[in-house]
Amino acid sequence: MSNLTFGIIKPDAVAKGHTGKIIDKILASGFQIRGMKLIHQSKKQSEGFYAVHAERPFFGELTEFMSSGACVVLALEKENAVKAWRDLMGATNPAEADEGTLRKEFASSIGENAVHGSDSDENAAIEISYFFSKLELV
Ligand code: CMP
Repeated sequence: MSNLTFGIIKPDAVAKGHTGKIIDKILASGFQIRGMKLIHQSKKQSEGFYAVHAERPFFGELTEFMSSGACVVLALEKENAVKAWRDLMGATNPAEADEGTLRKEFASSIGENAVHGSDSDENAAIEISYFFSKLELV
């Protein structure tokens, strides 16, 4: 198990002014932030990031949304980081997210669901390197 995972505060949450509250909860949950930046992805960048979902019917909607505004990309460290971050985010569909999770509090739909997190250590390493160079990680 790796101690690093990758997260995004998605354009819906940034646009609604939830960035600070989400960062606060990340820190309060014991994560160390090893990389963080505010970016506005192009459609092409977001298609590259979500390439595993290219055949899904929602791919167009997903990549349109992810390139619709600014988001915050994060490299997060904690013991068993992938699971810890997924637990804090809650279920992909906010209607199924537990009380106390970020998606329960901040997400409005399965598409506009406030945050993203890696689903495995392998994907965490790939996703961190998609957005961060080694020099940008502390
Ligand atoms: P995320 O964790 O970023 O990974 C893939 C994303 O696809 C997921 O969060 C959802 O926001 C999105 N997604 C999954 N299912 C659907 C759907 N049925 N319609 C729109 N977006 C979806």
